[in-house]
Amino acid sequence: MTTTHRKKFIALIDKAMADAETMAPEELVFSYKGLLYPSTVCSLETFKALESFEARSDDVFLAGYPKSGTNWVGQILTDLVLTSAKNNEDTSNLDNEQLEEFPYLEVGDPEKYQRMADLPSRRVIFTHLTPQNLPASVFKNKAKILLLIRNPKDVATSFYHFVNRLSPLPSYNTWDDFFTAFMNGQMVWGSYFDFVFEWNKHADDANVMAITYEELKENRPLGVKRISEFFDLQLTDDEIQGVVDRSSFKAMKENAGKTHGAFGDILFRKGGVSDWKNHFSEEHNQKMDATFEERLGGTELGGKLKYGVYCKA
Ligand code: A3P
Repeated sequence: MTTTHRKKFIALIDKAMADAETMAPEELVFSYKGLLYPSTVCSLETFKALESFEARSDDVFLAGYPKSGTNWVGQILTDLVLTSAKNNEDTSNLDNEQLEEFPYLEVGDPEKYQRMADLPSRRVIFTHLTPQNLPASVFKNKAKILLLIRNPKDVATSFYHFVNRLSPLPSYNTWDDFFTAFMNGQMVWGSYFDFVFEWNKHADDANVMAITYEELKENRPLGVKRISEFFDLQLTDDEIQGVVDRSSFKAMKENAGKTHGAFGDILFRKGGVSDWKNHFSEEHNQKMDATFEERLGGTELGGKLKYGVYCKA
């Protein structure tokens, strides 16, 4: 990924951070269909325009709740697709504006979908939306979707540090206040539990592959290979290894200034598993354990998250 390709990404985030400095806390978010979104990067107009977005069967989608590692897996996916395109000498999508378009589907100006319609395949598209909030064409046209999930305790911990360091999102005075809001689904993009619950309805779709943050942490080469095979990208072992090497936490953090600008300092925080143990009290654990059981216990994705392994002290 070249620096030029990331310019628009960095510019949009930088602008959001600058705009937020002069905004009152209550102006930072707005509500659409009952969920909160950051008003510095999303808008009602863009959500309206999104309804007419035409997905393609060869689109490469990544869906993940915020703080599940979407920037990480997004880099893996983009790198895989670009490496595969180079192999096929299909370099048309290397130098055009594809990578300059902000990769999150629902983020940006309302005209972005017209520009995206002109982009060659394969388009790499990220989203934090639940399936029922995605445009109908995504499922109708059978676009393939990589679904990324992460254990809720680390997601909450990551989210807490993120909102408190990132000016465009409302911050919290205490971890306790944040935890209450997280459990009540008062986050931007809504509730973690709703996200996993709604995506669980598609867990068995042939065009959906679920992967966990934790399994990628445990065996990145295997995870990258599975992702590549799911999207039929046909890379050699050496090429897969290149993608694996470029996606280590260390490599991505070192490159963060080029790929994410100042935002990179906030995003690449710890990149590990179990930091929740430094934040959760017994009461927080009990609340989270009960809600997980109530909302996701017995579901396929709930099982995939291995709650007993990653979320028990
Ligand atoms: P932490 O805050 O726990 O460190 P998202 O991209 O969805 O906002 O998720 C951000 C989380 O992914 C952060 O978690 C970040 O450190 C982690 N992350 C980013 N790149 C990573 C990588 N290469 N390996 C592991 N984790 C990574």
